[in-house]
Amino acid sequence: MREINNIVILTGAGISAESGVATFRGPDGLWKGHRVEDVATPEAFQRHPILVQKFYDERRAKLQGVQPNPAHLALAQLDAAWGGDLLLVTQNVDDLHNRAGSKRLLHMHGELLSGLCLACGERSPVAGNLSDGPVCPHCRQSAMRPDIVWFGEMPYQMDRIESALSQCDLFVSIGTSGAVYPAAGFVRSARHYGALTLEMNLDPSDGSLYFNESRMGKAGELVPAWVDDILSSGTRFCDVMLKR
Ligand code: APR
Repeated sequence: MREINNIVILTGAGISAESGVATFRGPDGLWKGHRVEDVATPEAFQRHPILVQKFYDERRAKLQGVQPNPAHLALAQLDAAWGGDLLLVTQNVDDLHNRAGSKRLLHMHGELLSGLCLACGERSPVAGNLSDGPVCPHCRQSAMRPDIVWFGEMPYQMDRIESALSQCDLFVSIGTSGAVYPAAGFVRSARHYGALTLEMNLDPSDGSLYFNESRMGKAGELVPAWVDDILSSGTRFCDVMLKR
């Protein structure tokens, strides 16, 4: 028996795959059609702003055709029912966790539906194309860039994430390859602070060896089953059957 009060959950593109959102490194992944250097770095934006804007405009437009899947919905159910601390840190820039109803949610790599003013730095909701050059509604001085953390930029709210990892009893990683830091290092931080660690993924991630348990399969099946387990065990005690 292990007392589980505080949970940190990390999600990656794999949790949205069953909703029809492309992952990055899978067979038809986003990085297969684009070089990161061409569309996901500040230098790329300096060199080819319209190309970069259109890359994100296309992904933003696709959000209208996808829905949260059972994995997103199960995590939202856990968020609503869990009496202890819970923080869902997503690397994803889609709004599927938001639409599923997760509240204790943090987008560490930004969001497609948000724009960042190049002049005043304020954020604004964006639904259409930034390549059309809408002016920042705050300062009315400048166009906006995608509110996306590009390679070479610091992910958002790292202090809050580190604090949550230092206090969590259980760290759960869902649908991420463990290829990109700092997110890929969260499991080691959690273990350093004494947390149990569980991974649910279609394939072993780069960090699988750091997890007490790795469950291989589809998030849409594994996550609802795990949420049912941990909620039925009560918020104080959870018979988290993890191999040491
Ligand atoms: N259920 C569970 N896992 C899945 C599913 C599924 N249905 N489909 C794919 N996966 C797994 C894959 O096995 C893979 O390990 O999801 C993972 C997706 O890995 P990536 O495509 O590398 O995506 P992610 O880990 O989120 O990438 C991290 O890299 O390019 C940057 O900023 C980008 O946030 C992204 C970061």
